[in-house]
Amino acid sequence: MKPQAHELFPTPLWSVDLPPADAGPLNARLGAEIEKMIAPRPKTPSGSNWQTPQDLHNRPAFAEFVKLVELAAVNVAKDLQVEQYPMMITGCWANINPPGSYHPTHNHPNNYLSGVYYVAVPETGSHLVLQDPRPGILMPRSKLGRFTANVAVAPVQAGRMVFFPSWLRHHVPSNEGSTDRVSIAFNLMFTNFAETISAPMWEPSAPSA
Ligand SMILES: [Fe+2]
Repeated sequence: MKPQAHELFPTPLWSVDLPPADAGPLNARLGAEIEKMIAPRPKTPSGSNWQTPQDLHNRPAFAEFVKLVELAAVNVAKDLQVEQYPMMITGCWANINPPGSYHPTHNHPNNYLSGVYYVAVPETGSHLVLQDPRPGILMPRSKLGRFTANVAVAPVQAGRMVFFPSWLRHHVPSNEGSTDRVSIAFNLMFTNFAETISAPMWEPSAPSA
């Protein structure tokens, strides 16, 4: 009499790995562009990372990358049965995490899908941590397992692109490797909403709350 467990309310994380033959040259080009943007490298306090402006999707040097994001996003939208509603990239920026740096917990309000593409990943200690959004984390438990863990770890590697719902809180643990972790993050939102509701909030003249 062993009851069958049914998994309810799954939270999706999509990943796609570019073929290594494509990822290598693409990452070399992206890495060079990002290096150009950060030269000379600013001094960052120990433990902190460095980000580019959030408009990479509007820069010709990243057009090839943007195309890849848009193509993958269409397939994610199909899984969510919303492919008939046009979406746009609302922000796209590079993160450079030197050894010892991390990125604290956050999510991406006013967006529908968020994602990250990995340009360079240290040999060790690189992953993305997604946090369980359900209040079940308060349940008593003695071990962390499939039904009891309150975080999920997504391993990452150069050439991998991941997507997840923008409401899903996540963080990046400290870079335990000896080289920089370089990634490009992006958000997507339904074009109509982004242009008529969220964009006005981003105007410099809007009152800050
Ligand atoms: Fe994020």
